[in-house]
Parts: sequence; structure tokens; C-alpha cells
Amino acid sequence: MEIIKSTLDIGIKKPFTFLHVSDIHLSETDENDTPARREFAVARKRGFPFSLSAIKFITDYVKKTGYPLINTGDMLDFVTPQNLSIAQKFVQDTNMMLAPGNHEYWTCPNNRFHYDDVQQTHAQRENTLDAVEKALGINVRFSCREINGVNMVCIDDSNYNITQDVFEKLKAIEAEGKPIFLFMHIPINSEHIEINHEFPLNAPKQYFKDCHPLVAQERTSNELTCSICDYICNSPLIKCVFSGHMHYSKEIIGLDKQNQIITGVNTIREITVI
Ligand SMILES: [Fe+2]
Repeated sequence: MEIIKSTLDIGIKKPFTFLHVSDIHLSETDENDTPARREFAVARKRGFPFSLSAIKFITDYVKKTGYPLINTGDMLDFVTPQNLSIAQKFVQDTNMMLAPGNHEYWTCPNNRFHYDDVQQTHAQRENTLDAVEKALGINVRFSCREINGVNMVCIDDSNYNITQDVFEKLKAIEAEGKPIFLFMHIPINSEHIEINHEFPLNAPKQYFKDCHPLVAQERTSNELTCSICDYICNSPLIKCVFSGHMHYSKEIIGLDKQNQIITGVNTIREITVI
């Protein structure tokens, strides 16, 4: 795995270091799954052949360094009992915080990622995330831990939207008056984010020009989310937004209204905060 070490200066009295990973895309099955599902998993694994070795590497790295770990989602590629079992141990071994990705709620009932499955997947999203939370033993919709006076906040934006409930919780943390690092799967739109097969939150209309209507529907942030993005970008206390989703690494520091750090696949970011 690539290890990217960097320093973020937000003027705190007691420096600390943390690790950020994203988009591991576990694609494991076992005897509980049908042959068709196992075949699907084998095909998916070709795209993410390093997921199991990444989990081992990250777990060992956390143990070696003792640094807190924050994962911005797509830990699972799709939901299987075996993926949940591996993920549960990974969570337990590392004590990680997790913001869910769009793959955390893809059940792939027809053993494919397809337009036909979009409606069903989204209709079942809350139930699927409930089951993932139960299996992992952590809250993936919203969580906060304070490290040396900095509130590390994970929120759910995995369907290109942020709920009012999550927004209220974020504002309650902000009312404490401490600096915030905000972790979420999908980054906020910026001219510095290059579009590949994925979109950011609050994406401009021209991105949807050649999209399948269901993809456009899935990736369009609602009005509330667009206003929350503006809020986040203008918050003096939110010092940086950390995300994944794009599968490449990118730093947008001092270039836009909001600092953002995107972490790609097979990458550990080791960030020292001063
Ligand atoms: Fe991903």
C-alpha cells in the first residue's frame, strides 16, 4: 500500500497523528452464498484484488503506530455475510471510525451492479445500513470523537445527500467551538476535483448531460444537501473535509473555500495535525 505522510497546520496546542483510508471494496463470499453470488464476487475481486491484503496491512499499521484510524467508506463492495464478518473484525481490531460509502448499502440481489437495481437498492437503503451497523457494532450515520481538542466527525453522505438529522448533530458539535475535521465518503464539488466514473456532492448540471436517467437521479444532491455543502464550505470551524469515492488521492488545501483531502484505493494517509 502507498503511505502518504503529510502535516496539517490548524494551530492546535497538542499535535497528534491519525490515519485515513477509503474504498477497500471487500468482495468475499462463503458457503452461505449461492454459486451465482460467488461467481459475481470473483468477478468483482478482479477490480479490487488487494482488499484482503489491505485490511491486514492497515490492521498491522494501526497496531504498530497506535494511531487512530478513520475510514471513509466502501469498505464493503456489496453486502455478504463474509464481508460483514471480515469488516466486523477489522473494526474491532482497529477501533476505527467509519463513514459509509455508497457500496455499504448495495445488496446486489441480482448479483450485478445494474440500473435495474437502483430503485430497489435505494428503497432498502435504511434497512441495509441498519443491518451493517448492527453487524459492525458501530454507528455509521454519525459519530464523533475528540482528539486533543479537535472534533473528528464522521457523517453519512453515501447517497449523495445529507439528512437534516445529521446536519443538526453536526451543528451541535460545532457549537462546542472546537475545530472540526469532517469525514464523509463523497467529496464536496470543487473545480479541483477531476471527474472520472464518480461524481462529487452538489455536482454541476453539466456533469449529468450524458448520464443514464437513473444514474442522474441517484447522484443528484437535494436542495438541503446543497445548502449543507455551502454551510460546510463557509464554516470557520470545519478545517478540512476528508473523503474517498473517487479512488484517487487529491489534496485541495488553500485552493478553494473548503480544504479537502481525498484518499484513494490502496493508500494510507498518515496525517500529523499541528
Ligand atoms: Fe469506492
